[in-house]
Amino acid sequence: MDARQYSPSTARNRDVILDVLRRVLPARATVLELASGSGEHAVHVAKALPEITWQPSDPDTAARASIAAWIEAEGLANVRLPLAIDVSASAWGVEGQAFDALVAINMIHISPWEATLGLVAGAGRLLSAGGILYTYGAYKRGGSHTAPSNEAFEGWLKQRDERYGVRDLEAVEAAAQARGLRLREIIEMPANNLSLVFER
Ligand SMILES: C[S@@+](CC[C@H](N)C(=O)[O-])C[C@H]1O[C@@H](n2cnc3c(N)ncnc32)[C@H](O)[C@@H]1O
Repeated sequence: MDARQYSPSTARNRDVILDVLRRVLPARATVLELASGSGEHAVHVAKALPEITWQPSDPDTAARASIAAWIEAEGLANVRLPLAIDVSASAWGVEGQAFDALVAINMIHISPWEATLGLVAGAGRLLSAGGILYTYGAYKRGGSHTAPSNEAFEGWLKQRDERYGVRDLEAVEAAAQARGLRLREIIEMPANNLSLVFER
């Protein structure tokens, strides 16, 4: 059975995300991706940037099966098998390994706030000085939605789980700052999404 999952949103955003990562990832980076989902970003970026090493992860069993199936189907040597990482946990099982970058695409709004706190704590623990945390998704700015579509999206998120929500960029920045991460860059992306680049 082919466990590969196909995410329509990834088909739309993977090239614009790749453009940013191509520019901001350190040369020959070892990247830890959190909340990899289907694994399509992992294989797309790793195929385009063969000099990097990509470590995908997701706490969901079906997601990990999809990621593994994508790696096998694409025959990529620079993507490692997926790990089961819940970012809310106080340790991720990869402490002691060196990562130049952490990547979390479409996770912050679709998980409880504790996941964001866990993400930035992990970045503070695992990244060396100059390492980056890249996040992509919808954010509020100055306490307001940046587009009606994001407000509608938040309604949809809250129906799924009251703890989900489009976060205030400033709150994410403050949580990151408390873990030694500086918000280096905010990049406006299509469909009212933002890329955030934090530096340790
Ligand atoms: C909307 S999907 C995004 C998947 C992929 N990054 C993408 O953009 O297509 C959200 C993902 O977050 C993962 N997730 C939810 N809570 C998490 C947590 N506490 N730690 C790590 N991943 C989590 C889910 O398993 C799911 O794969």
